[in-house]
Amino acid sequence: MTAVCFDMYGTLCDTGSVVDALARELDVSDALVSELDATWRTRQLQYSYQLALMDEYRPFWQVTRDALDYALARYDLDPDEETRLAVLTGYEELTPFPGAVDALETLGDAGHTVAVLSNGNPAMLETLAENAGLAPHLDEVISADAVETFKPAPAVYEHAAGALGEPIEDCWLVTSNAWDAAGAGSAGMRTGWVNRARDPHERIGPAVTAVAPDLPGIVPEVL
Ligand code: LAC
Repeated sequence: MTAVCFDMYGTLCDTGSVVDALARELDVSDALVSELDATWRTRQLQYSYQLALMDEYRPFWQVTRDALDYALARYDLDPDEETRLAVLTGYEELTPFPGAVDALETLGDAGHTVAVLSNGNPAMLETLAENAGLAPHLDEVISADAVETFKPAPAVYEHAAGALGEPIEDCWLVTSNAWDAAGAGSAGMRTGWVNRARDPHERIGPAVTAVAPDLPGIVPEVL
């Protein structure tokens, strides 16, 4: 028995589903929706890395808002505040990936402590976990906000192990983000990489403990 942490954005829930909010709220072409979506996600992650390196902190909801504002400005769009908030709310309504609920349930039934470990701040994580139907299957929702920095800073993974009351080497992080697996492995966790895009393995950080193309595939590796 051990503790299994799951990354939220891109691992349990599909960040690509914000395209629905972009398309609904902005009167732009499908091609531009794709560009906005890609720029928004790239900036969101980049801002989190930059803030961590700069030793500055703001909650991930604000980081996500700042990244959205950047993406809109990048494509000369200037929607009103109400529209921006409606787009942002897409982050609370992401679609869970197939097998997400089953993965949490199977590991929980096997006696593992099952948690989310995410850069998201607690309020946005709790809302999404409820909306996506994940909340009933989670023992803990652990946020990087508690240590006011972002993954892949080791402090976040160390905080999770402490919160779960387990030695870090007995904790897993399951994530689709290769950079997150590298960070967790470097901090001492076992890592399950959900490699949906069939990306090459990272060249930094320890080798992942297990790899599978989807959530159902990673479960037997962690069991
Ligand atoms: C998470 C994002 C950043 O921590 O993938 O959930």
